[in-house]
Amino acid sequence: MEADSLAPWLLAVKLALYTSALLAAGLALHASLGVVERDDHARALRSAALLAGAAIVFAALRLAVANVQLGGSIESIFDKAILAWTWPTLAPSSIAITAGALAMVGASVWRLVWLSVPAAVALAAGFALTGHSQALETPGLAPWAVALHVLIAAFWIAAPISLWPRSALSNEALETRTQRFTRFALLAVPLLFIAGGWLALRLAGSTEALVSSAYGQLLLVKLAAASVALALGGYNKQIVTRKLRETPDQGRRALSVTLSVDVLLFGSALVLVGIATTFTGPPTG
Ligand code: HEM
Repeated sequence: MEADSLAPWLLAVKLALYTSALLAAGLALHASLGVVERDDHARALRSAALLAGAAIVFAALRLAVANVQLGGSIESIFDKAILAWTWPTLAPSSIAITAGALAMVGASVWRLVWLSVPAAVALAAGFALTGHSQALETPGLAPWAVALHVLIAAFWIAAPISLWPRSALSNEALETRTQRFTRFALLAVPLLFIAGGWLALRLAGSTEALVSSAYGQLLLVKLAAASVALALGGYNKQIVTRKLRETPDQGRRALSVTLSVDVLLFGSALVLVGIATTFTGPPTG
């Protein structure tokens, strides 16, 4: 079985891992930071625990695909000699994701909201403990920048779930949630862009390499998608929140439209970074 014929499978598994791990961490942050009100903490943590559990399965599938890529056949999945090569590379990330998921389940079962914070950090660290930042000659701050970047991305991309204007959520509760989310996002999202931009330059090596390489171009399109989502966030803050207060029905409709567009933009950002880290890589030399 040719290694590259497995690349689409690896991409699919990574996208499932991104989605489950980041939404789990994001919902946990929304509960622990008070974006979601206390009455709804149990529901948010239960969803986070289920998603985090799914992340363990996708982390295991990621290892399985790596084994088949290296061993050349399905039988290689459990081949000890192959695992001796793949496990050392993926172990730190897989262990961080598993530890984060178990802590998230604990946070949900024992209703310990504070425990969901280290759980979310461990899930984000799972992406910093493997991948291109670890492959740098001197990784330095790069893995930390990936962890911070992914943690904030998690907080951001879970917004369509926590802020969705579902009928059980009163206009007051919805307005409070959007205001509280916006307050944190104003501080955090610029940091995501700074960490992402710095990482892009650090990994690509130069602005020239960023603009001319397939890897760099994919990240620039990702930057464009994230910038549109940022502008939409500004529209939500300025216009939609006011509409929610003054004409709630219109405000709810506007919010469901902007959040639906956000889902497409966040999905595009994940697909773009998935393709950049699976089919391409930072230009060498
Ligand atoms: C909605 C916005 C964004 C989301 C959801 C997001 C998500 C992610 C995720 C999940 C990763 C980890 C990928 C992996 O380790 O396999 C990542 C890495 C990265 N992101 Fe973002 N990101 C966003 C915005 C940005 C922006 C604005 C930039 C700036 C150019 C950026 C640049 C990067 C870079 C350079 C990496 C490292 C890629 C590598 O390891 O080769 N991201 N992002």
